Amino acid sequence: MKEIVVLISGRGSNMAAIAQACASEHWPARIAAVISSRADAEGVTTARALGLAVEVLEPRGFADRAAFDDALAERVERHRPHVVALAGYMRILSERFVERFQGRLVNIHPSLLPAFPGLHTHARALATGVAVHGATVHLVTAELDGGPIVAQAAVPVRAADDEASLAARVLEAEHLLYPRALRWMVEGRVELVDGRVSLRDPVPGERLLAIGLGAESR
Ligand code: GRF
Repeated sequence: MKEIVVLISGRGSNMAAIAQACASEHWPARIAAVISSRADAEGVTTARALGLAVEVLEPRGFADRAAFDDALAERVERHRPHVVALAGYMRILSERFVERFQGRLVNIHPSLLPAFPGLHTHARALATGVAVHGATVHLVTAELDGGPIVAQAAVPVRAADDEASLAARVLEAEHLLYPRALRWMVEGRVELVDGRVSLRDPVPGERLLAIGLGAESR
């Protein structure tokens, strides 16, 4: 059984999607712990309701980012995780933390990277006028939202969209994409070749989830 640690800061809907898929699809893995950077995060309540072990580690009281991240690394390492999944974890991780968990650390970002790294991705997608938007699961490196891409989900941007409607469409796609990609991780299918992800025994098209992208959807 491989251990997964999920780091959250907020709503925790991706964490819940991962937990549900892990249980219902009988992954060779379990969520050892959900660690939240905020005690009052909605995801803390959700995780407890799902029967998951929840830990809270807030930055308050730590001298600086390095000290906090060292404490976090120690907490995470206690579970000997095969995968550490960032799921709406709203803190930038120190280079030392990233290096320590490199290869095991994954994130979901709400855009089709390398487009729109950073914050406010949906507003930026609307402002730019892209026709396709989505989400990316990637391995975490020191470069913000810049690590090797594991899988992507694409959704249409519709003429009537505002930030909320587009965010909701992307989030629905995230809930399918993140569990799928994490399952590959725990199954040992994700390999790095020349700095890019190569999937063992790939099925054509499985790294791209295209949702509602037919011409009729615009
Ligand atoms: C998601 O949009 C995710 O892509 C981004 O933060 C949001 C987290 O949502 N990194 P939730 O906490 O999983 O509901």
